[in-house]
Amino acid sequence: MSTVVSYADSIEKTLFTREEIASAIARLASEIAADFAGRPVFFIGVLKGARHVPADLVRALSSVPGGPSELRIDYMAVSSYGNANRSSGEVRMLKDTTENIAGKNVVIIEDIVDNGLTLAYLQGLLREREPAVLKSCVLFDKPYNRTVDVHVDYIGLTAPDAFVVGYGLDYQEAYRNLPFLAQLHSWVFS
Ligand code: IMP
Repeated sequence: MSTVVSYADSIEKTLFTREEIASAIARLASEIAADFAGRPVFFIGVLKGARHVPADLVRALSSVPGGPSELRIDYMAVSSYGNANRSSGEVRMLKDTTENIAGKNVVIIEDIVDNGLTLAYLQGLLREREPAVLKSCVLFDKPYNRTVDVHVDYIGLTAPDAFVVGYGLDYQEAYRNLPFLAQLHSWVFS
């Protein structure tokens, strides 16, 4: 007979609840609203991890008075982790933006920054396309293992130095659906 391990059994602890994430997103929305008051903003969400963040941010922004004059969302997809829980150190573009960003006020929306390579790659690539403004917003920051010095304009929450899942973040494509951020038991990786 095979042993069935429930999804919940593999979670060691909740790091940030749904409510803590929502309040971090509300704060990020206020910061972005203040910086772009009366001006259009073009969000670029980075898939697959940052699938929820731009959608939640634009909804949070709609309840901030005096924010951007227009909000648009586009997505890019990049791969930097493959199926391991360590960065490959190599970033591959899987899908580019559909709209031209030249002259636009662009905010890159990332789920998490760890060694910084993915965000640095995206910033370099998008800067060459000459947006009017290029800022970066990250929901979860892991500032412990940077291999490149990457600048982040808006930071939601600082996560511990661990591999984390939930709220869009996966381990081997699972756990993205969790509405909270969690740490897995170490046996999951063995
Ligand atoms: P970096 O290039 O090391 O900064 O990592 C960026 C990308 O790696 C993120 O967009 C995530 O897709 C993935 N990543 C980094 N840390 C984690 C984690 O703790 N859990 C899940 N994915 C992660």
